[in-house]
Amino acid sequence: MRFIDQVAIVTGSSSGNGRAIALALAAEGARIVCSDLVQKARPEGFEADLDIDTDALIRKQGGQAVYVKADVSKAADVENLVKQAVEHFGRLDVMINNAGVCIELKTIVEETEADYDLTMNVNTKGVWLGCKFAITQMLKQPPRADGTRGRIVNVSSIGGLVGLAQEPSYCASKGAVNNLTRQLAVDFAAEKINVNAICPGFLATAMVRQELDDPKIKAILESLTPWPRIGNVQDVAKAVTFLASDDAQWITGSLLTVDGAYTAQ
Ligand SMILES: NC(=O)c1ccc[n+]([C@@H]2O[C@H](COP(=O)([O-])OP(=O)(O)OC[C@H]3O[C@@H](n4cnc5c(N)ncnc54)[C@H](O)[C@@H]3O)[C@@H](O)[C@H]2O)c1
Repeated sequence: MRFIDQVAIVTGSSSGNGRAIALALAAEGARIVCSDLVQKARPEGFEADLDIDTDALIRKQGGQAVYVKADVSKAADVENLVKQAVEHFGRLDVMINNAGVCIELKTIVEETEADYDLTMNVNTKGVWLGCKFAITQMLKQPPRADGTRGRIVNVSSIGGLVGLAQEPSYCASKGAVNNLTRQLAVDFAAEKINVNAICPGFLATAMVRQELDDPKIKAILESLTPWPRIGNVQDVAKAVTFLASDDAQWITGSLLTVDGAYTAQ
């Protein structure tokens, strides 16, 4: 139980990676502020219990959780999200900036300005806002007994490290998240605030349901991944909980790949 007495916000918590991360942190004792645009899980998700909202599932399993609606691309929403965490649970120890979007595959020739704006607003500005308001709160609250002030994990992608075919805006948005992560780690190391990112490879969530339902594309994604399966949300949740825990106290500014060796090739 690595998160007893700690409070965590997880954005994009209704589905996929965010849901698994929220459940994993709660299972280790954290009080969770679940946050999403919509409280219901995306129906294209792979979980068997999609009819139960993440916050309700945490409470059913004996944990503490509330839901706060927020669009991560809106400053007022993210500022209010952090405020609500403090009002409900007294402080903020862990911020997981996970909410993200990925539009359908197309090259920059077909991609529209609206596609670019949506992707950058959610994936990049959303993480920037999450870090901004979380760090502001972490600086103002008393540190924990070991002097640390808080941990931030940004859910990025292998698309932030290498070019993925037909995902121009997505790759640009995640590349920006990766270097923002390193920049913030430098500015706030002295305050003992860790800022790390994980870069998952291809994994089964609602985001890639369309591709995984197409046997040809599924076979391509599998063949591109050296490990003999694509990833799942537990692979992501376990890596995120490690980076958010005391076990990672001296790890900051890292981009941890969770990709079955995709980027090792
Ligand atoms: N699935 C993959 O293969 C994969 C690979 C690498 C990285 N990722 C990243 O993992 C993160 C989570 O994606 P997922 O695969 O779980 O997808 P998902 O679509 O299952 O879940 C994303 C969640 O984010 C929420 N969301 C979308 N826009 C939002 C906004 N503006 N404000 C608040 N919430 C919003 C959605 O409602 C949804 O619940 C994303 O950042 C994604 O880029 C996914």
